[in-house]
Amino acid sequence: MQLARFINAFKRLETPFYFYDLDILDQTLRLYTKLIRKYGYHAHYAMKANANPQILEIIHRAGLGADCVSGNEVQLALDLGFDPDTIIYAGVGKTDKEIRMSLQGDIFSFNCESVPEIKVINDLAAQMGKKAGISLRLNPDIDAKTNKHITTGRAKDKFGISGKDLTEALEVINSCENVKFLGLHMHIGSQITDMDVFEKLCKKMNTFQKWFEQKNINVEHINMGGGLAIDYEKPIENLISPFETYFETIHHNLEVRKGQKVHFEPGRTLVGQCGFLISRVLFVKKGKEKEFVILDAGMNDLIRPALYNVRHAIYNLTSESSKNKTYDVVGPVCESADRFDEAVKMKETSRGDLLVICSAGAYGQVMGMRYNQKELAQAYYSPDL
Ligand code: LLP
Repeated sequence: MQLARFINAFKRLETPFYFYDLDILDQTLRLYTKLIRKYGYHAHYAMKANANPQILEIIHRAGLGADCVSGNEVQLALDLGFDPDTIIYAGVGKTDKEIRMSLQGDIFSFNCESVPEIKVINDLAAQMGKKAGISLRLNPDIDAKTNKHITTGRAKDKFGISGKDLTEALEVINSCENVKFLGLHMHIGSQITDMDVFEKLCKKMNTFQKWFEQKNINVEHINMGGGLAIDYEKPIENLISPFETYFETIHHNLEVRKGQKVHFEPGRTLVGQCGFLISRVLFVKKGKEKEFVILDAGMNDLIRPALYNVRHAIYNLTSESSKNKTYDVVGPVCESADRFDEAVKMKETSRGDLLVICSAGAYGQVMGMRYNQKELAQAYYSPDL
């Protein structure tokens, strides 16, 4: 695997730690930006996936804007030099402080998720003598056919404004002097593998657009969100997501009017596969029914398996055994949920071996926490290592 050349360096480091292979990030960004240019689209990186300054700088240099979900994300994007005109701020619960901070930064668009939010942004903008660019995040009632914890576009989900509230939203916008309507936004979930879902999303967007056109309202910007999946099962074989098919699907199904700008908010697909969680085996323990590999990394370092019941590929990087065995791979935290995976087949494992948990670049380190007073994992980057 591509990590072989780093193993000697890994052996010298205190574990657990995140390792980012910046060649993988570079390769991914090159293809993504090539396609964005090909279709004349605009991309804003969903910072929530990984907000390490080094990663953000590379993505900024590649020409992407920032998609933020908190005032601190907006501030970080501004501090790192992202052009305010490329910064978007979404989220169902923006605080007054966060809205003021973003108004101060003159960001491109607030993606509004409720009618009361539009009024609050208008009031705060008026107090500051500003005019806020706003887009409406719509709830299209589409099932993204993904993990239930990360689907966001069904009617029962908390996100976006539903079709039935659009008339009211428009009335409010028309009565507000300190907001400017920019366009429409949808993001229906994450780790979406089925292209039919994106086709459906385009068709919904076409319908919503027509509704606005009939009212003679110019929809200058269309934002299709993020959500494309990565391959957690075979990360080494499928390092890069099927960007070509994805953009072709959008291109063929989304009706784009003259002068209209189409935006995307990729997160996981850009950074997921370049990140690895490296951990040392503390103990191998034979239970009555199972054999456990106990790592020094836990749910505090990578919470996805515990929180969403999802799998990440796991390999033993250092065992020289020719035997394969089956283990439950668990962390040290005092919770039964602190388990990376069950029945993992891998090389016979002993204390001191290094294991890698793959596809940890997105929603990995950034969701790390200090539960049990564990330290936050450090990050290392190739080629610096
Ligand atoms: N745009 C908006 C408004 C979002 O809420 C998100 C992700 C994205 C874009 C980026 O989506 P992506 O391209 O990464 O799928 N912690 C979860 C994922 C939560 C996603 C939240 N929103 C996980 O570990 O799977």
